[in-house]
Amino acid sequence: MEIRKFQDTDVSAVVSLWHRCKLTVAWNDPLRDVDRKKKHQPELFLVGLINSRLIASVMGGYDGHRGWIYYLAVDPDYRQRGFGSLMIEEVEARIKKTGCAKINVMVRKSNQKIADFYFKHGYGTDEVSCLGKRLVADK
Ligand SMILES: CC(C)(COP(=O)(O)OP(=O)(O)OC[C@H]1O[C@@H](n2cnc3c(N)ncnc32)[C@H](O)[C@@H]1OP(=O)(O)O)[C@@H](O)C(=O)NCCC(=O)NCCS
Repeated sequence: MEIRKFQDTDVSAVVSLWHRCKLTVAWNDPLRDVDRKKKHQPELFLVGLINSRLIASVMGGYDGHRGWIYYLAVDPDYRQRGFGSLMIEEVEARIKKTGCAKINVMVRKSNQKIADFYFKHGYGTDEVSCLGKRLVADK
């Protein structure tokens, strides 16, 4: 798998991957998420390709205190072959290079089985509640 930075021409493939991976939710517009990311650390938005087909994505960021990972996805037809691990390892290495000391990831309560994947990659459960406040309604 080739891992490279997201390019404008990837937009429809990446959004379709997120739909296939059930990462899109009613209150988020994936196109607006892509647009926002293009303006903020776009170098940490990565895609994975096999024979030019986009099969994986991960969106990373560092806010000066913590690193964050979003939209980690591997096409269902390509799972259990280590591609998700390659994506997370690559984005972690790139986030670390920015000077970041710790990465957080939010896993939806409805998607807890994915936590095992993160545990295998050294993540632990922090005893915190994650609170959120919407500033812009996408829809
Ligand atoms: C999470 C996700 C990205 C993992 O992708 P993946 O490519 O299947 O990941 P990997 O193959 O690296 O690892 C998955 C499993 O395959 C195993 N595996 C890795 N390489 C393997 C190989 N060569 N052969 C067989 N199994 C392998 C791993 O040990 C791991 O085992 P586990 O399921 O017991 O944890 C994928 O399941 C996904 O897109 N899920 C939907 C989106 C999602 O929920 N994202 C997270 C949002 S927080």
